[in-house]
Amino acid sequence: MSVLSQIESLLAKAGAELQSAASADEVEQVKVRYLGRKGELPGILKGVKDLPVEERKPVGAAANKARVMLDGQVKAKLESFDSSSDADFDYTLPGSPLTVGRPHLLVRTMADIAEIFSRKGFLVANGPEIESDRYNFGALNFPPDHPARDMQDTFYLREANGLPEGLLLRTHTSNVQVRQFESRTPPVKIIAPGKVFRHEAVSSRAYCVFHQVEGFQVGTDITLGDLKGVLLAFCQEYFAENIELRFRPSFFPFTEPSAEVDMSCLLCAGKGCSICKYDGWLEILGCGMIDPNVMSAVGYDPEVLSGYAFGMGVERIAMLKHRITDIRLFYENDLRFLRQF
Ligand code: PHE
Repeated sequence: MSVLSQIESLLAKAGAELQSAASADEVEQVKVRYLGRKGELPGILKGVKDLPVEERKPVGAAANKARVMLDGQVKAKLESFDSSSDADFDYTLPGSPLTVGRPHLLVRTMADIAEIFSRKGFLVANGPEIESDRYNFGALNFPPDHPARDMQDTFYLREANGLPEGLLLRTHTSNVQVRQFESRTPPVKIIAPGKVFRHEAVSSRAYCVFHQVEGFQVGTDITLGDLKGVLLAFCQEYFAENIELRFRPSFFPFTEPSAEVDMSCLLCAGKGCSICKYDGWLEILGCGMIDPNVMSAVGYDPEVLSGYAFGMGVERIAMLKHRITDIRLFYENDLRFLRQF
């Protein structure tokens, strides 16, 4: 008789004996006889190593399967003797509630922002979080060794395990500008939410990981007026209030002119609180008109085309909207916090 059919008949025999077992003790005996250390099945398993190579695998697999099956049958039989479990069960007791997950507040905030912009004709795009110098800096008009690179507190990846040299964690979502420009012919109008990384001291206002939503439009005759209009419309729609924006002249290598935009602090109604550093205003985004050097780097003609770009801090926006006073709450995953949204 082949080993496989031995296993089969062993299963049949053990099954029949289990069927007729009349007590837990008898089941235990069957178990020892077939599965015990000196039982029949382990006996067969021991012999596997003496079989011709090509038979070892199927026989081993069949023996293992038989062991699992018998184990299950033994357990089921033992449970059938344990009648108390059924008789005492109170079917009228309420069940344990199922907890249902939900998107994290930051994910929802990004989706809400993208949704508002997509209704204004923006396409939603994504880009990689691990990026090369060119997309995070070079093509965005950061000259090599320029101090503006320090502004961004970059995490660089160590070269190892075949990882190419010079990779970094993107410090902003502006890399998506370059990638989209390179792969599209204008007009382009895109919104790109995502995660960014900066080696910053953690505080109630700053974290080493945070999120931005990048937006940009390139075409003929795109002006600063378009930029201001789209940002104000967004803020009034998202916060559903009479938001005020303040454009402060600023500098980014990839925009000219550049501005930082503050919105009136909703937390303290402009009186000053710890969130706005007693200023009444909260910085929510950087923006500007796309620098001609960026256009040239991606093969767009700056004589013909113009465009704007902005990058907003998602945490800041969610904090304002929901009156959250500490950015670290987003990352602690305390369910008492998460469940409020
Ligand atoms: N990338 C800039 C930052 O992270 C924000 C920005 C985006 C500014 C687009 C101008 C245009 O600070």
